[in-house]
Amino acid sequence: MIQIPKGCKDALPAETHLWQYIEDRARSVASRYGFREIRTPTFEQTELFARGVGDTTDVVTKEMYTFLDKGGRSMTLRPEGTAGVARAFLENGLSGGAMPFKAYYLISAFRYERPQAGRLREFHQFGAELYGSALPEADAEAILLAHDFLSELGLQDITLKLNSIGCPACRAKYHEALKAYFAPHIDEMCEDCRARLEKNPMRILDCKNEGCKKFTAAAPAITDYLCDDCRTHFEHVCDLLKGANVPYIIDSRIVRGLDYYSRTVFEFTSDALGAQSTVLGGGRYDGLLSMLGAKPTPAVGFAAGIERLIMVLSAQNLLPEAPVCEVYLAGMDAPSRVKAALLAHELRGRGISCETDLVARSLKAQMKYADKIGAKFVAVIGEAELEAGEAEVKDMRASASERIKFSELAQYLQGRK
Ligand code: HAM
Repeated sequence: MIQIPKGCKDALPAETHLWQYIEDRARSVASRYGFREIRTPTFEQTELFARGVGDTTDVVTKEMYTFLDKGGRSMTLRPEGTAGVARAFLENGLSGGAMPFKAYYLISAFRYERPQAGRLREFHQFGAELYGSALPEADAEAILLAHDFLSELGLQDITLKLNSIGCPACRAKYHEALKAYFAPHIDEMCEDCRARLEKNPMRILDCKNEGCKKFTAAAPAITDYLCDDCRTHFEHVCDLLKGANVPYIIDSRIVRGLDYYSRTVFEFTSDALGAQSTVLGGGRYDGLLSMLGAKPTPAVGFAAGIERLIMVLSAQNLLPEAPVCEVYLAGMDAPSRVKAALLAHELRGRGISCETDLVARSLKAQMKYADKIGAKFVAVIGEAELEAGEAEVKDMRASASERIKFSELAQYLQGRK
């Protein structure tokens, strides 16, 4: 039997209502903040991610699904959504429209990672991006949108971790401090970290290798190297969150795994998850748009992993119930089946979800099916009912039944929704 590719997951019909629940909340919160949906291609030119996400990141160096198309062009399945939105913004001249620009997306993304709980090769994100404001109010708006989304899902025990990784000027000093700190240990660290030391020493802080982690614990913290402007910006973001009563902790270990960030970075984590505890991550990335050819355009955004959100909802017993069939129409013979089919059509037209027999089953088998699909009511139609113009309507929860006229069935069911 052909199997699903490693690191991918089917969302089966019994589970897709969970996805829809999360997607509905995402759309609802995002639109209240004035974000409109954007849809960009699943694959882009490889160069977009190599330049945008950064060629010292694990995502670009190890995890991209890159292929040559039939025209010999190098293409890559998007490993995240930010770079594609930035490209679309530039290519479509959207800076000429209403600014700040605010867009959200619900996408699949692809990373060739070692699969484990909460880490997939195809996963899904709800993300939001805001361009055109360098003010701390924009950082706060992105964080508050993320916070409201998670709280409207009902998630408990979520921690917001906040940090500032400064601007290129303060980061240059920090890089020197990190180089000086790691240099005496570098021979004991992994091959990747040895390469990172010269190219981008901050990436070492993100290394997943246990042997390297023991050296990162006591490394200098970026917060001690921020310039005055970056420090003031960060304090202002913190003040806005305090004002909005959103609890957070400052964690100088949060550096994020993608290269485009500057100043504020943040992650929402959950203890309900194992090693992959981050449900949502984001930050400011003022350099990305100009690096892709735009005039300098400050930007901030985030993305949440849908599969991880489902894991937390499930661990906290917060999963919404699957939609149920309101009524199953059971026809006992051929003429009753015809009546049931016509009645079903009429009820569906009036907004009532219903099913009927499509395989000429016995009444007993139909009752079993109605039970399996969780039908709230079963309306039985046989010869006598056809003649009387009524159905025998059974309330499956109360195990009681009563005769209801066909013409009054819709009203009866609507009254019991
Ligand atoms: P990221 O931290 O790489 O950021 O991913 C955001 C979220 O996607 C993670 O917190 C996690 O929930 C989920 N995620 C990432 N990789 C996987 C995976 N392999 N399997 C399952 N879930 C995963 C970004 O992608 C940035 N583009 C976020 C952003 C938007 N920053 C600014 N704007």
